Amino acid sequence: MNTLNTTVTSEAEQPEESTIPVQEERPAETKIDEGKTVGQPFSEDPKFKLRNVEVFYGQDRAIKNISLDIGRNEVIAFIGPSGCGKSTFLRCLNRMNDSIDICRVKGSLQLDDHDIYDPKRDVVELRARVGMVFQKPNPFPKSIYDNVAYGPRIHGLANRKSDLDEIVENSLRKAGLWDEVKDRLDATATGMSGGQQQRLCIARAIAVSPEVVLMDEPCSALDPIATAKIEELIAELSESYTIVIVTHSMQQAARVSHRTAYFHLGHLVEVNETNKVFTSPKHQLTESYITGRFG
Ligand SMILES: Nc1ncnc2c1ncn2[C@@H]1O[C@H](COP(=O)(O)OP(=O)(O)OP(=O)(O)O)[C@@H](O)[C@H]1O
Ligand SMILES: [Mg+2]
Repeated sequence: MNTLNTTVTSEAEQPEESTIPVQEERPAETKIDEGKTVGQPFSEDPKFKLRNVEVFYGQDRAIKNISLDIGRNEVIAFIGPSGCGKSTFLRCLNRMNDSIDICRVKGSLQLDDHDIYDPKRDVVELRARVGMVFQKPNPFPKSIYDNVAYGPRIHGLANRKSDLDEIVENSLRKAGLWDEVKDRLDATATGMSGGQQQRLCIARAIAVSPEVVLMDEPCSALDPIATAKIEELIAELSESYTIVIVTHSMQQAARVSHRTAYFHLGHLVEVNETNKVFTSPKHQLTESYITGRFG
């Protein structure tokens, strides 16, 4: 609290309002205190409870004692300079790191109060609940229909062809792609534009009705129109899903997310409501990053 700012001024004396949000105070924190994140890293109704998470690639510690909650139906953005560990941390949430031989994950990671890393856990079922969309669209070399139907088929979500048709149509509609592809569902997916392929991958991810969608820079290869469609979609999906999005676009984080998490050299430096992070960061490193001084 600023105790010095107690002078009462008349309206005429008020400074003119600037279009750029003025930060009232300089960030209080300057050092990284391992394991301590400034702001609000915890939530009242967590979908994920992540405590003292560390990730190693061989001897290298890429994630350093991070504790964070991700709320139910929250959109949280992960930001930070290249190499700070955003993708590594994201991949812990559905055990995508399992496929990297030298990668080890430590700490407590819970989804709905159950251990994500429980050896008895069915990883296929976990990834159906926690879907993922990657930076580069990766449709299967199959038809548009078969891409979306793939997950529901392997998980036995539709008994009849008409049920499967309905899932495919609904998923493509939610991904904002139905009108563009409804007359060519049998065409091969790799013949679509990059933006269409990315929306197809989102349709494929949501076709199995996941509870969480992880997105790692989903718009980095897209033009502004395709990007806007995906951002609209994120807003719609957030009504029923939890979404974690890694982005290098500060504007995107500001537009789509409720909370923003700032990573730096494997540390989680600051987490807070997105508007707070962008208008009054509490840590100097966050401020330097969002004002473009590094990263
Ligand atoms: N498969 C891997 N094997 C070894 N080291 C890795 C591997 N993947 C990532 N790393 C290392 O872990 C650290 C974090 O990488 P990560 O890809 O998570 O960063 P990032 O924040 O997603 O970066 P970017 O913004 O460039 O995508 C880096 O030092 C990186 O070199
Ligand atoms: Mg990355």
